[in-house]
Amino acid sequence: MRAPSLVVSPNIERLSPYVPGKPLEQLERELGIRDAVKLASNESPLGPSPRALEAAARALAQSHRYPDGTLLREALAAHHGVTPGEVILGNGSNELIDLVCRTFAGSVAHAVYPDPSFVCYRSGTIAANIAATEVPLREHVHYDASAIVAALRPDTGLVFLANPNNPTGAYLSRVELEQIARATPESALLVLDEAYVEFVEARDFASGMALRALHPNLIVLRTFSKAYGLAALRVGYGIARPQIIDYLDRVRAPFNVSSAGLAAAVAALEDPAHLARYVELNRVERERVRRALEVMGLRPAPSQANFVLVDTGRPGREMYEALLRLGVIVRPMGPPIGSFLRISLGLPAENDRMLASLERLLHGVPG
Ligand SMILES: Cc1ncc(COP(=O)(O)O)c(C=O)c1O
Repeated sequence: MRAPSLVVSPNIERLSPYVPGKPLEQLERELGIRDAVKLASNESPLGPSPRALEAAARALAQSHRYPDGTLLREALAAHHGVTPGEVILGNGSNELIDLVCRTFAGSVAHAVYPDPSFVCYRSGTIAANIAATEVPLREHVHYDASAIVAALRPDTGLVFLANPNNPTGAYLSRVELEQIARATPESALLVLDEAYVEFVEARDFASGMALRALHPNLIVLRTFSKAYGLAALRVGYGIARPQIIDYLDRVRAPFNVSSAGLAAAVAALEDPAHLARYVELNRVERERVRRALEVMGLRPAPSQANFVLVDTGRPGREMYEALLRLGVIVRPMGPPIGSFLRISLGLPAENDRMLASLERLLHGVPG
């Protein structure tokens, strides 16, 4: 039977579905192995806080009730020294990126975001039919604040900045961020996506929380998916002035975060020692992996996050496939950085396995 015709607008035709990192179990099934390593999705190698898991399990018993985000909003407000009316919860920060695009779709003519950066700025703006300027990073990896300023137009209504950036690990310093905030039209919403903020060490870094007075139309996005190890539970949040939160709340789907996610996030906030353990592990491994890659003759991009981006100098897809055959899952990049791999930082043994496999592929040394 012939399928009936179905028409979508040209912007939807331009989109393609998000491609997640290859699941561990799938590779293990394919290779018939049990010790594959996944360093592809910037997940925590330590897993969630045991307290968060207990809280999520307790919440599951109440699964017949719709979720209530009040407690988490209050906990986040206290954590950040703001009011609950300045906090919005999302089904991952990803939902909030989308929500921002949908909420301002009719009033924003033009958006700006860096490239390469988190793919959902592109998909979100395209889906909402917002024209955008993608600002190339210097040598594909370094932020260029002046280029971002140059891309701003009087009708720019939305600016996305991941700080630190995914997939490069680069960051904007406080001075650079202020330069961009000052140049951004007053009425434009500046979205500072701080999914990796917990991993930052750089002394000249400043969270967007410090810039809210300089540019009141600003929203800081955070997530429990990375440093808190709760990616599967889908909890993110945004902090902005109440009017912005109110507009977003009008468009947000009700009950958008599950009870298990809400309970786990509250408990995770109450276990700063677990967070600190991962941040310290990541700090040590980031430096160790960087040096090891350099010893191999590679030039990893400086990273303030829980991953490193590295140019292999060879087709990245082939390197990715070859690493898969060795039981190591990393993330290949598309053009114009097709020779790069993004490698999440794991446990020391997982990183060793990745480094040995890479060495074997690059130099034929047994790994
Ligand atoms: C920069 C950035 N923002 C947002 C997200 C979305 O994270 P989540 O929806 O899990 O909170 C990611 C995930 O990779 C990211 O890298």
